[in-house]
Amino acid sequence: MNFKYRTHTCGELRESNIGQNVVLNGWVENRRDLGGVIFIDLRDRYGITQIVFEPGYNSEAHKIGGELRSEFVVAVEGKVRRRPEGTENSQLPTGLIDVMIDQIVVLNKAETTPFQIKDKIDVTEDLRLKYRYLDLRRGRMQKNLLLRHKVYQLVRNYFDQNNFVEIETPILMKSTPEGARDFLVPSRMHKGKFYALPQSPQTYKQILMVSGFDKYFQIVKCFRDEDLRADRQPEFTQIDVEMSFVDTPQIFETVEGLMALLYKEILGYELKTPLKQLPFDEAMEKYGSDKPDIRYELEMKTLNKTVESSEFKVFSDAVKSDGIVTGLLAKNCGDYTRSQLDVLTDFVKKLGAGGLIWMRVKENNDLDAPIAKFLSEEEKLNIVSKMDAEAGDLIFILAGPKLKTLSIMGELRKEMAKRLDLLKPDAEPAMLWVTDFPLFEWDEDTKRYYAMHHPFTSPRFEDVDKLETSPGDVRAKAYDLVLNGNEIAGGSIRIHNSSLQSKMFKALGISEEEATSKFGFLLNAFKYGAPPHGGIAFGLDRMVMLFARESSIRDVIAFPKTASGMSLMDESPSTVDEEQLKDLHIRLKK
Ligand code: AMO
Repeated sequence: MNFKYRTHTCGELRESNIGQNVVLNGWVENRRDLGGVIFIDLRDRYGITQIVFEPGYNSEAHKIGGELRSEFVVAVEGKVRRRPEGTENSQLPTGLIDVMIDQIVVLNKAETTPFQIKDKIDVTEDLRLKYRYLDLRRGRMQKNLLLRHKVYQLVRNYFDQNNFVEIETPILMKSTPEGARDFLVPSRMHKGKFYALPQSPQTYKQILMVSGFDKYFQIVKCFRDEDLRADRQPEFTQIDVEMSFVDTPQIFETVEGLMALLYKEILGYELKTPLKQLPFDEAMEKYGSDKPDIRYELEMKTLNKTVESSEFKVFSDAVKSDGIVTGLLAKNCGDYTRSQLDVLTDFVKKLGAGGLIWMRVKENNDLDAPIAKFLSEEEKLNIVSKMDAEAGDLIFILAGPKLKTLSIMGELRKEMAKRLDLLKPDAEPAMLWVTDFPLFEWDEDTKRYYAMHHPFTSPRFEDVDKLETSPGDVRAKAYDLVLNGNEIAGGSIRIHNSSLQSKMFKALGISEEEATSKFGFLLNAFKYGAPPHGGIAFGLDRMVMLFARESSIRDVIAFPKTASGMSLMDESPSTVDEEQLKDLHIRLKK
């Protein structure tokens, strides 16, 4: 096909181009016929330029112009002119000019698209995902992917300038489940054996430290077969980092440097460093979350000391059984009606709370509350004072097992923040470190401890003695980076000493045999001079989602899966030929 290559993009022409002969290539966004004159918005990823077909200017081009439909692909040639007075469009960078067309080649026609190619469309996400190529033509999606591109470039540049080496690690690896289920890939050449897709390059990056690479990073795909949510995909991208001869402060400094750069270049904010560091216990007690949103204050208060000798059993029992009594102050909400309080009670009950204790604060520290009759005057006074409450306020209290109760109050905190409109749309983004996570998590079902991060995470040195006596109290040298209530990165200082590693496996109930069969290659590597090391990995999709002010990571991934793990465009997962299965030594159960 004979067509001319563009001299300019559709976002480029300005007043300074008036009078020039130009060629544009692009898609027809829409067509307006006004008294014989045809106006078309021509679009490419750089912008939109209005092109004009007038019968008197060029009748042949005008005839073709009349046949154009949305999403036709065209090459046009014409002269840039100033738009007639009163027809300028100040919303468009090209809005002062248009192009009078005297030659047009239709490069391709288009069927009517299932939805319009514009920012705001009212269609299901499934339809958008089925026709993702059209969805990605929309300005909003293009903006998101360009922002993502900019993040890649800034990240690569930053690490390169700081002496980090980008090294690719395998996509086919040994199955060493880290927490989620592995995606498995059957081996054709080794009957009955499987590769796994990496949940993260964790073991490889530690081995690279043994190899002496010292500072490693990689922008890498990770795969986890877990239940999906708005901020989770089965395949997602990490910015993976590992460093040797460091402790937590050096890792924080490196990460904060990167975040300051991204804040400045992407969000236009100056990030104040060093970032706030909040130990896990404090995060849970104040915000009921290990990824607190601190853009608004609204802190929870622990009332254990205040109510430990209460006559009210719910309080004193919780304290006695190592549980927690936690309170939340809702300022000026003393006028909440019974039905409003019932809704909130249901809210916490759905999350697993036995009920919600509420107290309206009256004048003279008096309390209007269903449980008021169980509390002494002194106790009421102490609660009001501990909660910093005043007449007209409302106090919520939950009592029960520690982490569960705090998490539920954390959810109520977020709910109240919404109801009280505490989160302003123009609030500055809030980033912080959450540190000192517990090393282990107790699982009631299997009655054993699991590594909260992974089994190579170092305990704090001062807690090593507790590994055998009270594993639940051991804190890890692990940290998460939290932005606006989302965990955007997590990492730890690793164990590099084999006797400590053995203690760790013992505490986890992992036998020597099991450790050797699962992690033998890493443990072997550690026998040959492993430097002290640690690292972190960012969830790149989540970070870009927050930067783009989107609420789903699917909107910043070119070809994401649905919540049920489907790719609607290419219809995967799909069945395969019998022959393929045979090659892989697989027979499907009927
Ligand atoms: P972790 O499992 O915490 O750590 O993962 C790091 C970050 O990756 C993001 N993330 C996800 N994003 C989208 N979809 C998912 N399914 C998903 N799962 C995790 C989160 C998270 O903070 N190897 C360790 C890191 C280390 O210790 O260095 C790791 O993978 O934003």
